[in-house]
Amino acid sequence: MPRTIAVVNQKGGVGKTTTCINLGIVTVVAGGKALVIDADPQKSATDAAALLKKGKHGLPCDFTTESGHEALRNLHRIRNYDRKYVDTPGSLENEGRVQAVLSNSDLVIIPFDLDGGALKPTIRTARLAQEMGVPFAILMTKVDPHATRGPKLVLEAREVFDEQGLPYFKVFTRNYTCYSDCVKNNTIITEWRDGSARTAVEELHRVHAAVELKLSRLPIVERVGR
Ligand SMILES: Nc1ncnc2c1ncn2[C@@H]1O[C@H](COP(=O)(O)OP(=O)(O)OP(=O)(O)O)[C@@H](O)[C@H]1O
Ligand SMILES: [Mg+2]
Repeated sequence: MPRTIAVVNQKGGVGKTTTCINLGIVTVVAGGKALVIDADPQKSATDAAALLKKGKHGLPCDFTTESGHEALRNLHRIRNYDRKYVDTPGSLENEGRVQAVLSNSDLVIIPFDLDGGALKPTIRTARLAQEMGVPFAILMTKVDPHATRGPKLVLEAREVFDEQGLPYFKVFTRNYTCYSDCVKNNTIITEWRDGSARTAVEELHRVHAAVELKLSRLPIVERVGR
């Protein structure tokens, strides 16, 4: 069944755009048909997509930029995709736009930059999804890959989310420069060959699988026109 997945956090720089585009890419690698929708007026996903399209391997998923609230409320009318991933703005001024996207999403992924002190906006974003009745889960990003510090921070964050009763993915993405290096070099991460890229792609496949599992457990709610 086609599904729309919104990637949302009121905090900037937590990895929304990176998560969104890479899930689009990994979905295609896994055999699905994916559309990435840039709903952020800053258009960083559109810029990244343009860089990737210039490269030898191109961008395997489809991509579109969409800013009007009405269009965002009608994303379910875009057909022929297994998965639509929507990148959203990272600021409170755009809450109307975020709500338009959420009103039509099956699942919300809330990236949480473990090093960025984004706990409060992350919890606020989770509460917004909760109020709107959209299933959601927090995805920890930029986890320190080397030290014992990374796993320790993951455990601490899980404790906070457990206390708050907020669902999170057990999988996470680590802090690897390849996430930005590959884009700067016009190369999708699945084709990028620097030291940590292979590990990053493995973790992206794990995130994709966790998202799919979550989707498979959702109650089937057919919206008119979908
Ligand atoms: N797992 C990661 N490891 C290392 N760097 C990352 C990771 N995820 C994202 N980044 C980098 O962090 C920066 C911010 O990421 P991104 O643009 O995806 O965040 P965002 O939430 O979309 O930001 P904004 O709110 O401004 O739209 C980028 O330079 C990106 O390459
Ligand atoms: Mg972004």
